[in-house]
Amino acid sequence: MKNPDADTVSLASALHSLVSQLEERNQELHALSGRAIYAQEEERKNIARSLHDDTGQALTMLIISLDQLEAHLPAQHGDLIQDVQAARQLAANALAELRRIVFGLRPAILDDLGLVSAIRWYARSNLEAAGIHIDVDAPEPMPELPPQISITLFRISQEAVNNILRHAAARSVHIHISLEAQSICLDVIDDGRGFDMQAVSDEALQSHHLGLLGLRERAELLGGEILLDSTPGRGTCLQVCLPIPVLLR
Ligand SMILES: Nc1ncnc2c1ncn2[C@@H]1O[C@H](COP(=O)(O)OP(=O)(O)OP(=O)(O)O)[C@@H](O)[C@H]1O
Ligand SMILES: [Mg+2]
Repeated sequence: MKNPDADTVSLASALHSLVSQLEERNQELHALSGRAIYAQEEERKNIARSLHDDTGQALTMLIISLDQLEAHLPAQHGDLIQDVQAARQLAANALAELRRIVFGLRPAILDDLGLVSAIRWYARSNLEAAGIHIDVDAPEPMPELPPQISITLFRISQEAVNNILRHAAARSVHIHISLEAQSICLDVIDDGRGFDMQAVSDEALQSHHLGLLGLRERAELLGGEILLDSTPGRGTCLQVCLPIPVLLR
């Protein structure tokens, strides 16, 4: 074999060093995006706590005060009583909305009841309200999962449910959780209008469709992957599989 000339050798070595620099940058980016996601979860937890403990408490006190005010108003002040009742209703609505926001920020149900109940609760309360049939099946009993895995699967099912609500025009949705020897998988299957995956991924960044990209990133941070299968007119199936146990920070 002919000896490669000096130029080729130095070109190859320059390329090699460029590739390793790129790999390093890639790893740094990966680590940074991991930290950003977990910092975001921490921040959400703090906001949720303060909304729940301070604002929620204040609204509850307001409702109690309005109840007391109404009880003390003489019956002949009918107009005033109606005003107080209307104000009470507004405060009650605000409290319900606050609870919904707090849940979205920090699904306490995830800590209290575990992953499957939290996913079932979120999917049912959002999809059934929109007239979409939903069923969720999962292995019984479900092993205790590391918090990063639970929160990642919960956030992924939230985005999948939101996408179904916003884009799918589905009639029914099936959520299936399964355990393999070393991984846990979540499938979200809808019978909606489906979409052209290539067109969507080409325009995702320009059009700020970041939901699916974010899901992929979350899954990859835990060493898992997302499989998306959609065809216009034939519904969508989103599957995420994460290895267990994996603890990444
Ligand atoms: N279940 C689905 N059924 C039909 N189309 C879908 C479904 N999920 C996603 N899509 C299509 O894929 C596109 C990209 O979804 P993605 O979640 O990335 O962005 P988005 O929902 O538009 O915006 P966001 O960044 O707020 O999530 C959507 O705009 C929609 O056209
Ligand atoms: Mg989305």
